[in-house]
Formats: sequence, C-alpha cells, structure tokens
Amino acid sequence: MLCSKFKTSCLVMFIICLLESSAEIKRPNVLLIIVDDLGWNDVGFTGNKLISTPNIDTLAKEGVTLSNYYVSPICSPSRSALLTGFHPIHTGMQHDVIASDEPWGLPQQFKILPQYLKSLNYSTHLIGKWHQGFYSKRHIPTKRGFDTFNGYLSGATDYYDRITRYGSQWGLDWYENETPSASKYAFNHTTDILTSQAIKLIQSRSKNNPWFIAISYQAVHIANSPKLYQVPIDYLNRFKFIKDLTMRSYVALLASLDDSIGTIFNHLHKTGQANSTLIVFTSDNGAPTGTLTGKNCNLGVGSNQPLRGAKYTLWEGGIKGLSWIWANWLKSKGTVYNGLSHITDWTPTLFSFAGGNESSLPANIDGINLRYALEGNRKRSKIIMRNELIHNIDDIWNVSAIRIDDYKLVTGTVLDGQFDDWHLRHGLP
Ligand SMILES: *[C@@H]1O[C@H](CO)[C@@H](O)[C@H](O)[C@H]1NC(C)=O
Ligand SMILES: *[C@@H]1O[C@H](CO)[C@@H](O)[C@H](O)[C@H]1NC(C)=O
Ligand SMILES: *[C@@H]1O[C@H](CO)[C@@H](O)[C@H](O)[C@H]1NC(C)=O
Ligand SMILES: *[C@@H]1O[C@H](CO)[C@@H](O)[C@H](O)[C@H]1NC(C)=O
Ligand SMILES: *[C@@H]1O[C@H](CO)[C@@H](O)[C@H](O)[C@H]1NC(C)=O
Repeated sequence: MLCSKFKTSCLVMFIICLLESSAEIKRPNVLLIIVDDLGWNDVGFTGNKLISTPNIDTLAKEGVTLSNYYVSPICSPSRSALLTGFHPIHTGMQHDVIASDEPWGLPQQFKILPQYLKSLNYSTHLIGKWHQGFYSKRHIPTKRGFDTFNGYLSGATDYYDRITRYGSQWGLDWYENETPSASKYAFNHTTDILTSQAIKLIQSRSKNNPWFIAISYQAVHIANSPKLYQVPIDYLNRFKFIKDLTMRSYVALLASLDDSIGTIFNHLHKTGQANSTLIVFTSDNGAPTGTLTGKNCNLGVGSNQPLRGAKYTLWEGGIKGLSWIWANWLKSKGTVYNGLSHITDWTPTLFSFAGGNESSLPANIDGINLRYALEGNRKRSKIIMRNELIHNIDDIWNVSAIRIDDYKLVTGTVLDGQFDDWHLRHGLP
C-alpha cells in the first residue's frame, strides 16, 4: 500500500457498526460525488494494488458498484447527461467541451436534477466545477436550480490561485453564488475549499427538508498547463518513494481527494446523517494520457488500463465510467450491479430515491430509473434491462460508437488517432 491506512480502518470500523440495515429512508439526503478525469485504473476498487483510495474503495465495497457503466468521453457532454437525464445527442451537447470564450451552454429548455429535487423540497447545492456554460446569466448554476454555488464555471483552474486559462486568455474563476470570490479563496487548495464547504452545508442542514449536494471535484484534472498537478506539500511528502514528480503529484492528489471523501463521510456520521444519506460516486470520462505518451495534447498521467484509449476517444478507456452508490439501508449492500448503465440514468434514479414519481419526468427522457435494480428488487427491475447504448454521434469530428449486447461498433477517430491505443504508466500500475 502506498499510504498509511489509518483512515481506512476508521471508516471500515464505522461501516461495520452500521452493517445492520435501517429502514428505508423516504427522502434521503443525496450526496453526488463527481471526480474529474479519473481513469479506470486510478482507484483500488477496480484492482489497482498500489494506488491507495481507501475511503472510496470501502464505500464502493459496502455499497453497490456499477460494473458496466458508461459516460461520455469528455466533460461538458458527460455532466449535461448526468444533470438532465438526456443523452448529449439530444441536447446538442455531443461535440467537444465549452471553451470559456464560447457563447453556448446547456440549453435552457432542459430541466436539471436540482430543479427536479427542488420540486420535492430539497435544498440544492453545487460545490466545485460547473462547465455547463456561463455566457449569459441564465446559464449559471444559481439560475438552474441550485440554491447555492461555491465553485468555478469553466473546465479547469489552477489548484491555488483560481486562474483559469483558455488558449491565450486568462481570468479569475471562483464564485460564491453569483459573487466573484477568487481573492477570498486564493492560496487554498481546491480540494480543501470543497471539503470545508461540504462540511459547512452538512452542518447547517434544515430539520424539515433533505439536501442535495453535488460535490464536483477539480481533482484529478490537470491545472493550467504546464503545471499539471498541484497538491499540498504534506501529501507530496507521503509519496517520496515515487521518483517522477508528476506521477508523485498525481498519486498525492488522489490521496487528498480520498481523504476529503472520508472527512465528509465522517461529518455525516458526526451530525447523525449517515443513515439518512445516499451517496453516489461517478467519474466524468476516462483519464487523459498525453503526458504518458509524450504528446502535447490531452495531457495527464492517469491510467485506463486494461482498457483501450483515453479521454476524448470512444474506446472503452474513454467512456467506461467508475461509479457506485452507498446507503446504509440498502439491502443490496456489498453487491455489484452488472447491467448496462449510463450516466443519464442518475437523474431518474435519484429523483426516484428522493420520492419523486417518474411520471413527472419528461416522457422521452433517455435515462432509466435504476433504483429498483440497485436495491436488488428483482421483480421491479426486470423491465429496465438495457442491451443497447449509443455512446456518441459527433458529426463534426465524424466519430460515433454504439454498443449492442456484446458487440461494439466504433467509426472515425479523434485527435488524429493518437489516443486509440493502450497507454502504460511507467513505475506504477
Ligand atoms: C444507523 O442505523 C443503525 C441500524 O438501524 C443503527 O444501529 C445506528 O444507531 C444508526 N446510526 C445513527 C447515527 O443513527
Ligand atoms: C413541499 O412543501 C410544500 C409547502 O410547504 C408542501 O405543500 C408540499 O407538500 C411539500 N412537498 C413534499 C414532497 O414534501
Ligand atoms: C484557507 O486557508 C486558510 C489558511 O490556512 C484557512 O484559515 C481557511 O480556513 C481556508 N479556507 C478554506 C475555505 O478552506
Ligand atoms: C405517479 O403518478 C401517476 C400519474 O399521476 C399516478 O397514476 C401514479 O399512481 C403515481 N405513482 C405513485 C407511486 O404515486
Ligand atoms: C466529416 O465528414 C464530412 C462529410 O464527409 C467532411 O466534410 C468533414 O471534413 C469531416 N470532418 C472531419 C473532421 O474529418
């Protein structure tokens, strides 16, 4: 193991204490954890023996892991699918990410998850990355159903100084609700800001209504190139035995992300909310591997092994997502759900867990309510099995992919095919 395991043992003991299931909670709090650019091989629960993500792995093991789960190959499309329940090909979000100087965003006519949950009287909060457009005020999180927002609107920032860069343009990017607040948060590491904001919200919950907190981590996305990964020195020092500084920083960043999730979980416990909270974990796309392969695009040292391809591609390494759900009352705890599932499924699934009636979702929504399947309710989940999935149709880059049963068709290529291969990481699995 790469890092000390004391945090794991705390969490493991705590979960053992909770093993006796409590009654099903009618309107649970919902904590949605989104991790940026996390590769299939960057966590312990898919088999990496050296990278240590004990909190993430323990919650995965004690929850229900989705082993056949797909996301979009890049960020803005993936998050639009997560929030709307509609496939990006149906919202106009299927091509590329939103560059900071581009005047577009997630179209207004699509209602998003926090709006659905508000109709059930949830308080709704976004912490961290948005990346669904901000060229007009109508597009920002607080105008789209989030009661509060503390985070950044673009795709990536520096981990400390809150500067975002797109091409030759630079700017400060941090907001408290609608107020620019970069200076207030300068010199704090992004992961720490998100952790303390999550704790603040968890502590100040209302007695009457449940909350929905989407915590959308910057980790483990690169900061502004060429800085790549930035991480507090004490984390860096834990991994001195990793010679390569970029690789060491990446592993350290993962450790601080994992500690953040452990800290937040402990606060759920401390405030008596662990039994009434549903936690969902998802990656947004595969890891970029440009740094590993000596390219000067798609930079990063994540690993999608043994899957082929990387972020941006429609090969498995670009789109096979990492996801699990944890709730103490689930009878299916400790199982794996291997049905074909998609990031669009979370909107109907979480709406259902929150007590919403599916008939109030749009009739043509693409996502499927996986609640009964994840609960292990065979009778009610039979109708939802899916055997077909369109991964994407991008008619600008001319790439598309579809999966039917055990067959998959990929047409076209992106980034001149530079990421269509298997990319090995040196010195680490
Ligand atoms: C959580 O539920 C379990 C089982 O019902 C119970 O033993 C435990 O005390 C509960 N914990 C809290 C903090 O309510
Ligand atoms: C939401 O709050 C309103 C006003 O207090 C109430 O009428 C309604 O029944 C609540 N809905 C739910 C799902 O709790
Ligand atoms: C930012 O860092 C300062 C100095 O360490 C600390 O006092 C403050 O609580 C931090 N703020 C957040 C939001 O993490
Ligand atoms: C959901 O709404 C439909 C249509 O209004 C209604 O027929 C059905 O009984 C509702 N289901 C539940 C579980 O309340
Ligand atoms: C995509 O296909 C269209 C039509 O065949 C062609 O005009 C266009 O140049 C292609 N684009 C790319 C990026 O290959």
